[in-house]
Amino acid sequence: MKKLLVTGGAGFIGANFVHYWLAKYSADKVVVLDALTYAGNIANLDSVKNHENFTFVHGNICDQALVERLLTEHNIDTLVHFAAESHVDRSITGPDAFIETNIIGTYSLLKAAKKVWLDGDAILDGHRFHHVSTDEVYGTLSPTDPAFSEDTAYAPNSPYSASKAASDHLVRAYHHTYGLNVTTSNCSNNYGPFHFPEKLIPLVITNILHDKALPIYGDGQQIRDWLYVEDHAYGIDLVLQNGRIGENYNIGGNNEWANIDIVKTISKLVEQEFVKNPDLAKRFPQAKAAMAQNTESLITYVKDRLGHDRRYAIDATKTNNELGYQPKESFATGIAKTVTWYLNNEAWWQSVMDGSYQDWIAEQYSS
Ligand code: NAD
Ligand code: DAU
Repeated sequence: MKKLLVTGGAGFIGANFVHYWLAKYSADKVVVLDALTYAGNIANLDSVKNHENFTFVHGNICDQALVERLLTEHNIDTLVHFAAESHVDRSITGPDAFIETNIIGTYSLLKAAKKVWLDGDAILDGHRFHHVSTDEVYGTLSPTDPAFSEDTAYAPNSPYSASKAASDHLVRAYHHTYGLNVTTSNCSNNYGPFHFPEKLIPLVITNILHDKALPIYGDGQQIRDWLYVEDHAYGIDLVLQNGRIGENYNIGGNNEWANIDIVKTISKLVEQEFVKNPDLAKRFPQAKAAMAQNTESLITYVKDRLGHDRRYAIDATKTNNELGYQPKESFATGIAKTVTWYLNNEAWWQSVMDGSYQDWIAEQYSS
């Protein structure tokens, strides 16, 4: 039986991980530590809030004393670290928060874990610090380059990916220098329920329903490797169970798509849903699909992201061979489930798209 401290558990992937974990290992204890930034939403944890082994703590990962207290009071043996500033566009306009949370915050967690697990009277056997990282630390690929493997040299290009790379290095150093039991996973782009609508896939779905432009950065030919979020949770589960201490594991979907093709695919899926379910035209009367018009006409090419990485692709051979990892969801089933989830959970996405989010979006498109 494990006792987990999950940082950032009220965010997109963290919340999906908590749902996955308590459904599969309901006797385990799960404590979530989350600062509830604009991206964190306590409602993401509604389905587990009454679970007897679940605790939510509102707090910041930079608060070392708080983290030490949580590790001690809850006898935590496994820390799964999701908390981060995660949006590349925000890191370009305001990198400070990324340095603070992603670098200083991770450093603070490492110090707390070392103090409680290694520096006490006895080293805690079987402790684990699992760090959730990204494929973006490897930089960018040309269309013909081989996919990123765990041996690819780090070459981060945005303030976000540089801050994640820095945190990955600190995690590695705490293992090498102090013997902290660490693992790191580097995952590709996730999609699925509870994805904040500033990211491409949920932004496109919600904009279609509001009859808003679908902004495509640059030529729309940038490529991402998309993974259904539950398959990320499954990959982390395998790393926690059988991953070798001190190792990095790539997790990916083997599922590369150009952005423009993702947007066209989602447009078609939404149109099909409106044909199948006439109620949708009543709920979203402004949507093109409600008037049998072409949704793709909303596609609007806009100024490219600064320093935009052209292509990411994950080679997950090591994770497949060592841990038996294979994603369970195909892209066809995962994206259909995701569209359905957004159609059925309007109250969720309307509530997270509050004033501060709208102000930020307006700022991005003001010039
Ligand atoms: P998210 O932005 O949806 O959620 C981040 C969560 O962290 C939020 O709940 C937020 O409140 C919390 N948080 C932020 N700063 C905090 C702080 N200082 N103290 C405590 N909590 C804080 O992010 P996500 O998309 O769920 O990503 C989770 C992790 O996975 C991140 O580390 C990210 O780098 C990594 N990752 C994301 C993707 C992806 O496609 N989204 C892919 C690979 C890796
Ligand atoms: O690769 C993993 C990373 O994936 C994670 O580490 C990040 O936390 C996560 O946010 C995601 O980063 P991306 O920048 O790839 O995701 P985003 O959804 O912001 O953008 C996906 C692609 O779509 C990217 O090439 C930029 C483009 N895009 C995005 C938005 C929001 C558009 O063309 N238009 C848009 O409006």
